[in-house]
Amino acid sequence: MASSGSGNSHEAWGSRIGLILAMAGNAIGLGNFLRFPRQAAANGGGSFMITYFIALLLLGIPLMWIEWGIGRNGGRYRKGHTPGMFAAIWRHPAAKYVGAVGLVVPLVVMIYYTYIESWTAAFAWFSLTKDYWGHTTQEGMIGYLQSFQAISPEGAPVYHKPWTPYAFFIGTLFINIYVLSKGISGGIEKLAKIGMPILFLFAIVLAGVVLFLPAQPGIGATPWQGLEFIYKPDYSRLGEPGVWLASAGQIFFTLSVGMCTLTAYASYLSKKDDITLNGIATAATNETAEVVLGGTIAIPAAVTFFGVSGAMAIAQGGSFDLGFATMPVVFQQLPFGNLLGVAWFGLLFFAGITSSVAMLTPITAFFREEFGFKRETVAWSLGALCLVFGLMHVYWLEHGVLDEWDYWAGTFGLVVVAVIEVILFMWIFKPNKAWESMHQGADIRIPQIFKFIMTYVTPLYLLFILGWWGWVDAIPILLNEKSAGGGVLDPANTPYITFARAIIVLFAITAVVLIKMAWARNKYDDRKGFVEVDRSGEGA
Ligand code: PHE
Repeated sequence: MASSGSGNSHEAWGSRIGLILAMAGNAIGLGNFLRFPRQAAANGGGSFMITYFIALLLLGIPLMWIEWGIGRNGGRYRKGHTPGMFAAIWRHPAAKYVGAVGLVVPLVVMIYYTYIESWTAAFAWFSLTKDYWGHTTQEGMIGYLQSFQAISPEGAPVYHKPWTPYAFFIGTLFINIYVLSKGISGGIEKLAKIGMPILFLFAIVLAGVVLFLPAQPGIGATPWQGLEFIYKPDYSRLGEPGVWLASAGQIFFTLSVGMCTLTAYASYLSKKDDITLNGIATAATNETAEVVLGGTIAIPAAVTFFGVSGAMAIAQGGSFDLGFATMPVVFQQLPFGNLLGVAWFGLLFFAGITSSVAMLTPITAFFREEFGFKRETVAWSLGALCLVFGLMHVYWLEHGVLDEWDYWAGTFGLVVVAVIEVILFMWIFKPNKAWESMHQGADIRIPQIFKFIMTYVTPLYLLFILGWWGWVDAIPILLNEKSAGGGVLDPANTPYITFARAIIVLFAITAVVLIKMAWARNKYDDRKGFVEVDRSGEGA
């Protein structure tokens, strides 16, 4: 598979198994174990699952193949970044600037995602040391979590030193940047080979423990009732647009589509490599981790200890209550609870880190390929940038800056990127060329029906989501009529939110300027396209 190459920026995956683990690691993340159970429970369980599978078939899987296709096509010209990939498809001067979204969105998400990831590292440590032991109620644990996040309400007890969240954030960021600085096969692939087996081991142990939890006195619910709530088909809420949108949003987030990280990973493949089978294998692995393992841990555990209605109420609450408050309450009641806590938060940590390292790969590729910088220099410089803006999230968490970034980049941004990708690949590059490109080196043929789905159904579905979200969420949020985290906006937070948005705009302007500089520096001619570097398919 190695397509060792020309420039010093040319890297490749070491092995097929390494590639699959890295791709699966990219997709499997906090979304599978924290976001999925909450979304499923809050949006009607069995109804949500029906719309979820429809979104998987019509959006998720087609976009997965499209992203692998766009990425590998970019790799032919050694373009691991979206501006280059888009320019390789659409020979128009605007293409590269449109690609700026693919530098900004993953960078923005990386910054706050790493901060959340650092909470999991902290809570793995607090589990091992039994630091939260004694906070045996849901409210008690929420108080503990808020104390750690340094957002306790006035007068509430504080259990942590003020520097604790900073220390865990800096440590987590450091590990991410270290892995990135070691490159594709030497860093990311190695991490995946270690992290993914541990992740699956922890998940299987936890799912096994949860499924055999005995009914609790005074509650009387069993874990199976939790499973039934999620998996028993239910048609009652299929008429609600909110359920369809939530499931489409979950499919996006969990598969990592619209984030330009799958494309970046796929750019390190050659024409001889398969992408059809690998693409579907990645989606299948992610879905197993999500629907089978992610669905079997948090909700059934919460149902056993809090009853069906109690668990639903928790799932409707703050996004992290289920994982960071309910699960610790449960662990405190179980034998070897502290080790189970390490397994749960360790699972989240590995799920998180194998995703976050992907998010800086597009921008790293950009600086290396276009400006010739060394990998280490780029990685540590980006690390400094993430540190500065990450500290903003640690410091201002209570002012809604994280929710703001999560909405614009992590929710709305993904759909915007996906719309652009489908239009470029299926409409500008054209369906036949796209199809042929996806099938180079292919181990399986994609069923023909997907050509139709990718060309018509996926873009229409996406435009519908974009329009609907734009109308009910994006515009009201932009006008400060609604908060990005849901609910009413506290006017005191407006200056912080405006600042958070201004930074995204600043990133976007910087990206456009850098792209312009890169093209000038390398004397690219947009109408002619790039020179091909990947000749491995020709046996050269
Ligand atoms: N798919 C990851 C998750 O489920 C999130 C992610 C999105 C990671 C985009 C990388 C890129 O948590």
